[in-house]
Amino acid sequence: MLVSDPRPAGLPPGRATIDVTGGSFGNVSWRYLAVATEAVVRAGRIQRERYASGVAVEYKGEIDLVTEVDRACELAILETIRGRYPEHDIVTEETDLARGGSRFCWFIDPLDGTVNFAHSYPFFSASVALAQDGEIVAGAVFDPLRDELFSAERGAGAHLNGQPLRVSGARRLIESLLITGFPYDTHQRLEERLRFFNRVMGLARAVRRDGSAALDLCYVAAGRADGFWEEILKPWDMHAGRLIVEEAGGKATRLDGTPLGLGPDGVVATNGLIQEALVEALREEKPALV
Ligand code: IPD
Ligand code: CA
Ligand code: CA
Repeated sequence: MLVSDPRPAGLPPGRATIDVTGGSFGNVSWRYLAVATEAVVRAGRIQRERYASGVAVEYKGEIDLVTEVDRACELAILETIRGRYPEHDIVTEETDLARGGSRFCWFIDPLDGTVNFAHSYPFFSASVALAQDGEIVAGAVFDPLRDELFSAERGAGAHLNGQPLRVSGARRLIESLLITGFPYDTHQRLEERLRFFNRVMGLARAVRRDGSAALDLCYVAAGRADGFWEEILKPWDMHAGRLIVEEAGGKATRLDGTPLGLGPDGVVATNGLIQEALVEALREEKPALV
């Protein structure tokens, strides 16, 4: 059933009509976005408080860390989502949860940029996305140090603190600032992992490595960067950010240019104008993988 959207004040503008069929809290896209937003802001407050005081670090691998803040943020996000939608499935970074076959699945990165956080490097975020019937429909990413809340609803645009977002107008790689990231096994596979980087470094105006894929994607959506790629990401790293890029007028695909699914994958996300050129550059470098 379609009704006009009784969106509360304070949320970014959305679709004029919404589908209100089913769901315990109502399958209303602004409600999903409101829950995603509340969740990332709660997590962000914890990050901001604990950032100053320093945290104990545990090792998942030699480089891959987890802190008590990752876990505290995860708990806050889980509480927020489960309080509203106890029947929805959840995929979250720090805890394996059983799936119940719901049409709805939340993807949670409680702290994206843990290495940055642990080193007091001020670039990290919380990221929450919701998939409905296999398609990402809402996403929110919060940067607590800059108080920047990036959000998107499928079909209703992307926003930064309520203001509409738009990707950049760069048309060529040589006039583009790009961002990338590296997985935690890079030390073991250095040469292979650096091949894309070396290639793109020679084609773009500049390449940055900032350390929070979710936020990197939001920077593309905001036109602060023209494109982002990473060879392999987890679903919780990318789903909110890639919806935000798409809703800001950009494009997000797999490394070979084909559509992204919901699983782990490589990602190329750009303003759309340089998508083909970046995909092509990666393809030339590593034809076997992309
Ligand atoms: C990592 C960050 C980083 C990316 C890694 C991710 P984490 O997430 O997003 O930028 O390069 O691939 O694993 O571990 O800080 O949540
Ligand atoms: Ca992450
Ligand atoms: Ca994380």
